Amino acid sequence: MATHYHLIISTLIILSNILPSHQDHFATTPPLPILPLPSYSQLKWQQREIIFFHHFGVNTFTDSEWGTGKESPKIFNPKGLNTTQWVDVAVQMGVSLSILTAKHHDGFCLWPSKYTDHSVIGSPLQDGHGDVVKEFADAARAGGVDIGLYLSPWDRHDYRYGKTIAYNEYYMGQLQELLNKYGSVSEIWFDGAKGPNAPNMTYFFSDWFAMVGELQSTINIFSDAGPGVRWVGNEKGFAGTTCWSTINKTALSIGNESIVDYLATGDPKGTDWLPAECDVSIRPGWFWHKSESPKKLSELLQIYYNSVGRNCVLLLNVPPNTTGLISTNDIQRLKEFKSALETIFSKNLAQSCNVKASSIRGGKDSGYGPELVLDNDHLWTYWAPNDNGKNEHWIEIMATNKLLKFNVVRIQEAIGLGQRIRKHEVYVDGNRVAKGTTVGYKKLHRLENGVVSGHRVRIRILGSSSVPLISSVGLHFDPFWHPVGDKNNL
Ligand SMILES: *[C@@H]1O[C@H](CO)[C@@H](O)[C@H](O)[C@H]1NC(C)=O
Ligand SMILES: *[C@@H]1O[C@H](CO)[C@@H](O)[C@H](O)[C@H]1NC(C)=O
Ligand SMILES: *[C@@H]1O[C@H](CO)[C@@H](O)[C@H](O)[C@H]1NC(C)=O
Ligand SMILES: *[C@@H]1O[C@H](CO)[C@@H](O)[C@H](O)[C@H]1NC(C)=O
Ligand SMILES: *[C@@H]1O[C@H](CO)[C@@H](O)[C@H](O)[C@H]1NC(C)=O
Repeated sequence: MATHYHLIISTLIILSNILPSHQDHFATTPPLPILPLPSYSQLKWQQREIIFFHHFGVNTFTDSEWGTGKESPKIFNPKGLNTTQWVDVAVQMGVSLSILTAKHHDGFCLWPSKYTDHSVIGSPLQDGHGDVVKEFADAARAGGVDIGLYLSPWDRHDYRYGKTIAYNEYYMGQLQELLNKYGSVSEIWFDGAKGPNAPNMTYFFSDWFAMVGELQSTINIFSDAGPGVRWVGNEKGFAGTTCWSTINKTALSIGNESIVDYLATGDPKGTDWLPAECDVSIRPGWFWHKSESPKKLSELLQIYYNSVGRNCVLLLNVPPNTTGLISTNDIQRLKEFKSALETIFSKNLAQSCNVKASSIRGGKDSGYGPELVLDNDHLWTYWAPNDNGKNEHWIEIMATNKLLKFNVVRIQEAIGLGQRIRKHEVYVDGNRVAKGTTVGYKKLHRLENGVVSGHRVRIRILGSSSVPLISSVGLHFDPFWHPVGDKNNL
């Protein structure tokens, strides 16, 4: 028997040496992912970059931010309500998801809930037959924009609030109305705000989340603790300079002030993929007030760099006015914002350059070359270095003829295979111009010293869990950026 085996094995060895090796015919396989990974819906959310919030309700008409719950539904009278106008603004901005406050803390419902009369039913809108959620959902669908909803847990009107079982039943009844009647919902927004008069009120988050998952298959649940998307920990629209999409869910609780710093930075060792969303209003308040005006363009750009440019999604609130329309000055500012982003990012100066790297997985023409950081796929084509155990990897952009002049560096990781980079630096002709920690889906460096020029731009990856995978690199010129000491200012 033993000899028999020997014979077979040695025959196989001989054959494998003579026959052509099959591996030559196949493409180099991609590197293994590092866990945790984003879900399909989380990846889709991340690529939206900017999404809208619309705060609208009785507060719009009382000039307040937090209603008392004692408002008469009769005051809700948006005579020129046109949700198609809201959607048009989103479409013009390239925004693919808008979230509406179906109910804010005052308890007034923008849809005709059958569990209360504190809603559009008691308002002059279509003589009590109106439904703002429906009009919003219909207009959004017609315009190709996805919808999200916010249903405030805190309810200053409803008599059940403070009675834990009764109120949770009411809340879940409303959740079922919203998630059953208006088609596909892409994001649902929860916060932990609570009435100081009801310290014992407990929100049954686990029950709510289970119900949401049952009714909507591709929805992302937003809260301080996810499970789909996490709050960034402030309402300024700024993420931490270090921002991991990974975090430990077990360390999170909803409405807990002591975790805000952890939310802003995430956790390099985090066991859960839970990327951060940066919520901020285009105006000082969340609701429309006649006396307020939109933020300056420079502020909006700063917010963009500190949210989208730090691996997050920007949730920008644009509040409809008492007419039921988005105000002209907000639209004007959004147009400027959009046009500024196009000016900065539509031209990538690296596009016309040569590119080389410290190494290439599988060698030249393997499908992992550095030139892939210049194509239009920012997820699934990427430069991958050899997994040679080295701590440092680099990629270099080389000008073909004239000098490169830029003040923004964009770096993107192939996050479909996990977030990896924890330390990186950027050099121009040997001089360091930027340094940073995490990259994630998108990292934007607005150069501290303003415009730099040179022939060779090297991005050094000095720390990463497993090999870094870079899907895109951009060198951009931002004419709106004038840091103190920028000697090259035009
Ligand atoms: C609603 O707004 C859209 C887009 O701004 C406009 O085309 C449409 O005519 C408006 N509808 C009404 C009834 O005013
Ligand atoms: C909250 O619960 C505590 C402990 O059960 C009780 O002593 C207190 O009276 C309750 N407060 C309210 C406002 O119901
Ligand atoms: C708030 O978070 C801290 C830090 O994680 C934790 O120790 C504390 O138990 C949390 N509080 C509540 C009420 O969950
Ligand atoms: C998160 O969990 C990982 C794995 O259990 C652990 O190594 C890490 O220390 C945790 N992070 C924090 C801040 O506790
Ligand atoms: C609301 O905005 C529209 C422009 O979209 C404007 O025509 C209307 O006058 C505004 N309403 C108020 C009360 O300012």
